[in-house]
Amino acid sequence: MILEPYFGCFGGRYVPELLIPPLRELEEAMVRHLEEESFLSELGELLSDYAGRPTPLTFCPRLSEDLGFQLWLKREDLLHTGAHKINNTLGQALLAKRMGKSALLAETGAGMHGVATAAAAARLGLSCVVFMGKVDAERQSVNVRRMRLMGAEVRPVADGTGTLKDAINEALRYWISHQEEAHYCFGTAAGPHPFPTLVRHFQAVISLELREQSLAKTGRLPSLVVACVGGGSNAIGAFHHFVSEDVELVGVEAHGTGEPGCYNSAPLNLGRPGILHGQFSQLLQTPDGQVLPSHSVSAGLDYPGVGPEHSYYQSIGRIRYDMINDREALDAFKTLSLKEGIIPALESSHALAWVLKNKGGVRGGSLVVVNLSGRGDKDMDIVKDHLPEAK
Ligand SMILES: Cc1ncc(COP(=O)(O)O)c(C=O)c1O
Repeated sequence: MILEPYFGCFGGRYVPELLIPPLRELEEAMVRHLEEESFLSELGELLSDYAGRPTPLTFCPRLSEDLGFQLWLKREDLLHTGAHKINNTLGQALLAKRMGKSALLAETGAGMHGVATAAAAARLGLSCVVFMGKVDAERQSVNVRRMRLMGAEVRPVADGTGTLKDAINEALRYWISHQEEAHYCFGTAAGPHPFPTLVRHFQAVISLELREQSLAKTGRLPSLVVACVGGGSNAIGAFHHFVSEDVELVGVEAHGTGEPGCYNSAPLNLGRPGILHGQFSQLLQTPDGQVLPSHSVSAGLDYPGVGPEHSYYQSIGRIRYDMINDREALDAFKTLSLKEGIIPALESSHALAWVLKNKGGVRGGSLVVVNLSGRGDKDMDIVKDHLPEAK
């Protein structure tokens, strides 16, 4: 396995010197263990018997009839703990064990990565500390309780906007003084090298399965795959095995309220290149380079940066990135619940909303797949303030 720190000019490892040794140690462990037969068979068993892979590819008959093309969902929402995050945490927890670590540390936004890390740690007998912005801990309080129940220590972070960016800052600081015993289980395909490659490696199972399922069920590859983009892990996982195929790929960022000049979480659409959390990538920033606060109704997309591989695919025009606002995502949340009996995460609702909004541009007969990255149970308290039927 050859590990490249850059995707075009994006990526890299812009961290304090004290973090270089654990990042090098991680890189060496990836080269040594990721392709080992025993590693692959242990991970394969955990993914199937514990997490619930393969996830189904579900046809949406009622929505397809309305839309005039076939709409399918890749059901990451059906995984244990409720989102795609468990694909990555099981892989990283196994690797941490191989590295002789006794603890996992993590950051979390919506809490789904925190819950998935807590579960993987409990399952593999590792201790676990999770940093979570104070605002996120309040809006996703059920996930805080789930993490604690599985034995994780949750540390709310009050700095900055009290969201994912601040939680990552705190987790990186903590890692400096705990690198001997702890592995930093990074939650998205971003951060300093080798995290973007490591997380993509574990999430690429989504497009691997999707490819096979699409061929088996329909005899062809999807025409279009759509996924929401926070840091970018479910999207890069859903896109990876289609990048060199004739498949259209669309990543959807959060436009916040959608008003002109509003706070948003759309660095690919509205940012410019800069450095945050050890990587060079698209970033929401002021003209003098200060990181801007982000906003989205979905905590999991509420991040001013994005993984470097997405910045690269945008720069070469291979993947299209667009935006969906809070209202459009909430409407899609309601539509999927009503029409197909599936309550999606607010994050995933952005991807579905893009398809509903852009249906006019999709050719009849197309085969469209939305990566349903997670389920909406965690969002019931948020949506009740916006959707009367969820009160
Ligand atoms: C269900 C769900 N989807 C998507 C995301 C966004 O993360 P990523 O862009 O890494 O997939 C999150 C983050 O918490 C999430 O919980």
